[in-house]
Amino acid sequence: MSLTIAIDGPSGSGKSSVSRRVAAALGLAYLDTGAMYRAATWWCVQQDVDLSDQDAVSALVLELPLEMGVDPSGPTVHVAGTDVGEAIRESSISTAVSAVATNLTVRDEMRRLQRAIIDAERSGGFSSGGGVVAEGRDITTVVAPDADVRMLLTASEEARLARRARDVHGADDAAAVDATRDEVLRRDADDSTVSQFLVAADGVVTLDSSGLDLEGTVDAVLAVVSQVT
Ligand code: C5P
Repeated sequence: MSLTIAIDGPSGSGKSSVSRRVAAALGLAYLDTGAMYRAATWWCVQQDVDLSDQDAVSALVLELPLEMGVDPSGPTVHVAGTDVGEAIRESSISTAVSAVATNLTVRDEMRRLQRAIIDAERSGGFSSGGGVVAEGRDITTVVAPDADVRMLLTASEEARLARRARDVHGADDAAAVDATRDEVLRRDADDSTVSQFLVAADGVVTLDSSGLDLEGTVDAVLAVVSQVT
């Protein structure tokens, strides 16, 4: 049986690690839509485009030579044949990505690509039975509102900042959390101007992971999935 799981959430909610684990546990493909916006941003920076120039950014992204690898044991992102998996996680990209992701032409194009990948996986791409875990900011609401499971992964601001500090700085002491605060809060504020991911839409199950570790969160998601399968 083909299964589509949509998971949205803010920065630091843990949705990427959780979604990847859930996909691996269920033998499904894993689509990181944030990585697609990051790749688009990386490409614009490479091409020296002024990110505030909406038309120039749109034109470039409409021709984006992007390839997404959806194996949850090693997801990949290539732009024009270059493996950008690490480059797109640089803080310069994290700081710039919202400017590109709030461009409405970019969003339309990314959503079209995301739906094409999800549709291909539904009918059996990576997984033999077909199916995908897709995560981002607007998957439950716009990209795949017809998903079998729709979840919003949230966490307290404190938990999200600590997680992001550990990811980026390898520590969650006060200095590391402070260094992360601006990027996380500003990005969520900017992103929420074009996507509704801070509050669950109708029919979307909210899971607060503040008090849960990775394993606990994965188990909680799998428990929700098991209710519909
Ligand atoms: O999930 P991640 O933090 O890697 O996402 C990077 C950026 O991509 C977000 O800050 C947001 O600007 C954009 N994004 C989006 N819609 C999605 C996924 C990500 O606008 N579905």
